[in-house]
Amino acid sequence: MSKETLTITDNRTSQSYTLPVEHGTIRAMDLRQIKTGPDDFGLMTYDPAFMNTASCRSNITFIDGDRGILRYRGYPIEVLAEHCTYLEVAYLVLFGDLPTEHELKEWVTEITHHTMLHETTKKFMEGFRYNAHPMAMLVSTVAALSTVYPEAKEIQDPANRMHQIKRLIAKMPSIAALAYRHSLGFPYVYPDNDLSYPENFMNMLWKMVEPKYVANPVLARALDILFILHADHEQNCSANTMRCVGSSHADPYLTTAAAAAALSGPLHGGANEEVLKMLDEIGSKQNVPAYVKKIKEGHGKLMGFGHRVYKNYDPRAKVIKWAAERVFEVTGRNPKLDIALELERIALEDEYFIKRKLYPNVDFYSGIIYQAMGFRPEMFTVLFAIPRTVGWLAQWQEMLTDPEQKIGRPRQVWTGHEVRQFVPLKGRSPVAATAR
Ligand code: COA
Repeated sequence: MSKETLTITDNRTSQSYTLPVEHGTIRAMDLRQIKTGPDDFGLMTYDPAFMNTASCRSNITFIDGDRGILRYRGYPIEVLAEHCTYLEVAYLVLFGDLPTEHELKEWVTEITHHTMLHETTKKFMEGFRYNAHPMAMLVSTVAALSTVYPEAKEIQDPANRMHQIKRLIAKMPSIAALAYRHSLGFPYVYPDNDLSYPENFMNMLWKMVEPKYVANPVLARALDILFILHADHEQNCSANTMRCVGSSHADPYLTTAAAAAALSGPLHGGANEEVLKMLDEIGSKQNVPAYVKKIKEGHGKLMGFGHRVYKNYDPRAKVIKWAAERVFEVTGRNPKLDIALELERIALEDEYFIKRKLYPNVDFYSGIIYQAMGFRPEMFTVLFAIPRTVGWLAQWQEMLTDPEQKIGRPRQVWTGHEVRQFVPLKGRSPVAATAR
């Protein structure tokens, strides 16, 4: 018998089954043959929150959470952050290899020439309430692009798909900048094709009446590095949303909007906004021990700490800490950094956090940098969504071109009633208030 197998004995029937093991997994469908009788549906796995279920084969992003490793297409994140631009990394994530000089030039030109938003999109965004959350504006506007590009629904045509992918990567910063300026009541700044991806974004955010906006090169590079760190992160909540919604063959704008909606939650991309609120709540270094005590007593979570996969230091947090020092040389030190460092120091020495393998994640320091650059916390998740778009689209392409994939459709374990007798309206007894 091959060693790459698993033998299971069903104690209900005393029957044994041998299942193949491939890449350290068994196929869930192989369990279906395990039945107690001909009417039995067959064995399923129960895995709320996908704690131990691989939903796809992928060769985009590799994470080894125990060893703190993150690689895109085989390249360690630290190396990419040191040597590449975001658009170079986006090319890698999407196409599988780093571009040559010529390929990069063409890629940058193409992205640059798709940054404009249709005027109707601008008008659409002007309709948002003055205090609308920028992430909600981003999600809705990305979905609304589906009305501007109806041909995007031809998702089986690779050339069409690539066209929409370029549009999305290019337009995300333009939508984000418009959302930002809308919330401040400032007029929209059109993209400037002479500028790099991060500089153009900064230009659309912060240009006022000067004829030519000149971005600070240190801040532009820091933003680019932050974009690299956020480009993809394998099968997280939003990537899984992208794959699941995309598996119904919805168009890429609607699908990306769904992924961005998943990202907006405070347990996912929204955590960086929550970190800043938490640091505000703590207020000063002296209050850190009391705050940690409160968390340990079960009152809330330490935002920016912990990760479903990393049970060692998040490698992105290390690069961010390094980038923070460079940014603060330009902007001045964000006083919240001292609170964050003290929080990290105390938490990393504390038995509660050690035992649960809780370390700072990418969101712990990114918000502090963004704030020092002048962003309000509401913009933080938007800044996450811009670079993650390429990751979502790479996951989407991989899913669509994988012959094993079908429409995503999990099973359930039924815990409800057996068939019930219908009671006409007048004969029903009241439902207990607590059950409503
Ligand atoms: N602060 C305090 N305790 C935490 C914690 C945090 N940030 N994150 C997890 N824990 C505790 C849980 O309460 C649980 O304790 P218990 O075993 O006594 O019940 C234990 O650690 C395991 O946590 P669990 O919620 O099962 O981990 P998860 O893998 O489901 O959750 C996160 C992962 C990221 C959702 C979670 O760590 C979290 O909510 N972190 C804060 C939000 C955040 O920073 N998100 C950004 C992720 S990049």
